[in-house]
Amino acid sequence: MKDKNPDHPIRRQKRAFQGRLLRWYRTHGRDLPWRTEPSIYSTVVSEFMLQQTRVETALPYFERWMKTFPDFASLGSASEASVLKSWEGLGYYHRARNLLRLSRIISGMSHPPASYDAWLKLPGVGRYTAAAVTSIAFDQPHACVDGNVVRILARITGCERVFTSSDKATRFFGPLADSLLNRRHPGDHNQALMELGAVICRRQSPKCTVCPLQGNCASSMREDVETIPRLERRRIREVSVERLWIQASGSVLLTKTGAKEKRLALIYELPGMDVLDGIAMASRPIAVRQRKIGNNQITETIHEVAPTPRIMRKLAAKENCRWASPDGLQNLTISGPHRRWIKELLDSRE
Ligand code: ADE
Repeated sequence: MKDKNPDHPIRRQKRAFQGRLLRWYRTHGRDLPWRTEPSIYSTVVSEFMLQQTRVETALPYFERWMKTFPDFASLGSASEASVLKSWEGLGYYHRARNLLRLSRIISGMSHPPASYDAWLKLPGVGRYTAAAVTSIAFDQPHACVDGNVVRILARITGCERVFTSSDKATRFFGPLADSLLNRRHPGDHNQALMELGAVICRRQSPKCTVCPLQGNCASSMREDVETIPRLERRRIREVSVERLWIQASGSVLLTKTGAKEKRLALIYELPGMDVLDGIAMASRPIAVRQRKIGNNQITETIHEVAPTPRIMRKLAAKENCRWASPDGLQNLTISGPHRRWIKELLDSRE
């Protein structure tokens, strides 16, 4: 890839940059379980969990996961339903399904692959995850570049360029990240940047006074750290979703999301209006809930509908619908917010 940032002074300070970063990480890095007891498997599980989730949120899931599925073989032989159940609440469920597929593939090999290109071919593994796994677990010299790394490199170089997407920013900083990589300790170097981005070089309120790289940082000297990187924020889209609350004999109606829905595939939610195929029915709104997913600000209005014989006949023919009793809810994998809303509604009706 063409390097558009070839002459920045940070390149001439590379050794000092690497040394400061590594010393800081080895002294101040958090003792996270995938670091204190590293293995190829724990590296892969942690990287999948951390693709869209913060360390604090992922930690209890990781601990439980390692007890339930301690290695590629146990995960590879598990059912998809049990894997999704263990992932419940972390969101972006395609990660769990890809991790399961990956484990099945690796369980069938004599040993996990070590090369970046081989990892890139596995389900759910993009450039960032391939670089993280091969550098952390195999000491291979591949630089990880994500939003954290972009932020650190943009601030260090005082980059004023406006990026129209985070993907473009990631591509722009790829060559600089590569050239600054500590090739003797690539895994620790990558994790040090992730750690610095999470605890010091934060998007808001960065802690520049305790940053090991302050002496290398152009925007800290200019005191405009919080304005860098300049990323054009994508417009927030307002989305409205209508949901149904149908209760019969104490059970609640749920629908299974379609296999193609990347974020949620094959987990349960409160049904949308479509399950009734437009038949006339009386309904009344009983709750309005807001949530944000990516750039979508979603307003979900939940409408109560009485389970008339006609509606029950219509629902009986629907393969993706099922009834769940309050106890039965525990055994299903339900999207995190919907589980919360169902509990609130059931509690309010007791
Ligand atoms: N984010 C992605 N990978 C990570 C790791 N190994 N440690 C901390 N944060 C991360």
